[in-house]
Amino acid sequence: MRLLVTGGRTGYLGRRVVAAAAHHEVVAVGSADADVRDPAAVDALVDRHRPDVVVHTAYVQADPEVTGAGAVHVARAAARVGARLVLVSSDVVFGGRPVPYDESATPDPVSAYGVAKVLAETAALASNPDVVVARTSLILGDGESGHERLFRSLALGAHGALFEDERRCPVHVEDLAAALVELAANDVRGVLHLGGADATSRLELGRLVARRDGLDATVLRAGRRADLPDPGPVDVRLDSSLASRLLATRLRGAREFLAPGTTR
Ligand SMILES: NC(=O)c1ccc[n+]([C@@H]2O[C@H](COP(=O)([O-])OP(=O)(O)OC[C@H]3O[C@@H](n4cnc5c(N)ncnc54)[C@H](OP(=O)(O)O)[C@@H]3O)[C@@H](O)[C@H]2O)c1
Repeated sequence: MRLLVTGGRTGYLGRRVVAAAAHHEVVAVGSADADVRDPAAVDALVDRHRPDVVVHTAYVQADPEVTGAGAVHVARAAARVGARLVLVSSDVVFGGRPVPYDESATPDPVSAYGVAKVLAETAALASNPDVVVARTSLILGDGESGHERLFRSLALGAHGALFEDERRCPVHVEDLAAALVELAANDVRGVLHLGGADATSRLELGRLVARRDGLDATVLRAGRRADLPDPGPVDVRLDSSLASRLLATRLRGAREFLAPGTTR
């Protein structure tokens, strides 16, 4: 099986997907190979490599052209050559509510990033008969994520606060990468939630990382997302029980993979 992984050269998740797929033929690509905003460049890239599966991780959170339109171009190019598509999406397609979201929930994004992800999902599901949209949550766990770097800097005294009211289902980057490679090789189609097993606030997550890394977790200050002028999604827990039934890969919860004494 030949996999083409967008974001595979430099992306935090993409590089892990490339590593997890080492037993397959893998092509790792980045924006120097094809800017996803350019449909002709994406078509040429896909024609050049003729993948069986495209795993699309590339995005720029602040740029809907990359996140939304770019994914549309990738989805169409994959469909044109008959390639399966594994599209990485996000819990931010939801606006927040007090109960977890399963795959039957209708997206109701409240941020530009969420709107771009919904555009990507909708186009992928409409343009390719062989697609799985994999919605995930905060990705971390190996010490290298931007989230962990931020938590460490705050624990070392940098100015800032962590939301105590936000609730999401963080996932370990290696678990997620393994699940995406599993999905590349199976025939699951439609939408699938790939969150970790534990719902945590940003503050709890920061404390878990600080303790794992031997830092003083009590230094971390609490803030409230709901108090922001434009809070975005606050409680976006993913119900990932379908994935736990369909996949061999287990998506550990943050309290497990960040427990004191665990290695990164
Ligand atoms: N990180 C999280 O906590 C989180 C949470 C939920 C969902 N997600 C989803 O997970 C996926 C991966 O996130 P990540 O944290 O691994 O992202 P990342 O580290 O920021 O990597 C993004 C990748 O996108 C590529 N890219 C950017 N602009 C591009 C363009 N115009 N054309 C082609 N490639 C471009 C970059 O490649 P170059 O360097 O080659 O430009 C980079 O490798 C995204 O779809 C995101 O929505 C992430």
